[in-house]
Amino acid sequence: MNKIIIAIDGYSACGKSSTAKAVAAALGYSYIDSGAMYRAVTLYFIQHYVSLDNEREISRALNNIEIEFRIPPGRTDGISETYLNGLNVEEEIRSMFVSDMVSDVSKIPQVRRFLVAQQQKMGKKKGIVMDGRDIGTVVFPQAELKLFLTADINERARRRQAELLAKEQLVSLKEVIENLQKRDLIDTTRAESPLRKAEDAIEIDTTFVTFDEQVEIVLRKAYRKIMYAADEVSQ
Ligand code: DC
Repeated sequence: MNKIIIAIDGYSACGKSSTAKAVAAALGYSYIDSGAMYRAVTLYFIQHYVSLDNEREISRALNNIEIEFRIPPGRTDGISETYLNGLNVEEEIRSMFVSDMVSDVSKIPQVRRFLVAQQQKMGKKKGIVMDGRDIGTVVFPQAELKLFLTADINERARRRQAELLAKEQLVSLKEVIENLQKRDLIDTTRAESPLRKAEDAIEIDTTFVTFDEQVEIVLRKAYRKIMYAADEVSQ
């Protein structure tokens, strides 16, 4: 069976990663959460007091960063987690203190170049679902299937608050909305690869769609693209 690349972009908390994970599992593809990579770099910068306006400090820090996705011992559902220099940081990178700074770190051109190069390497063999902000526009402009997810801000905040609560982090809805709005603004207005819908991306508004419906919509589109890719090869 021919393998394709599926790029899922959109605003924070629109259900990109949960959809991408389920689609990857159904297709037997690997799933890469590119936001987790920006979050891991942010965590490292916080831990090492890296000054965000010092290019040399940033370069030195990036040279010391290794990010991997691994299935942790004892995890049986096959879902991988984020490791920073050999340590599992999956929980820490989702905390509010990382969320508050991640958009500022992901504005830095050196950081973007560093991570985009790694993401492109991961997609060399195709069979990958990657979600983020610039996947369809910059990382994989040649992706066979590009999706752009949107949702109402209140619904997005409600979902993110529930996710945080499940991890025992109690954050007010107001604080979550403020964080999302701040990130939307930085992500869409930054000079280097701002968040925007690729011309050939399909937009899906997830406000009133259940998670299962969302996954089904994407899978239907993916199967069509996979069949189309197979036809092209056999011609
Ligand atoms: O998907 P997320 O909310 O975990 O992403 C965290 C931040 O990382 C987001 O605010 C913007 C940045 N990001 C990015 O700039 N480019 C990507 N491809 C993925 C994430």
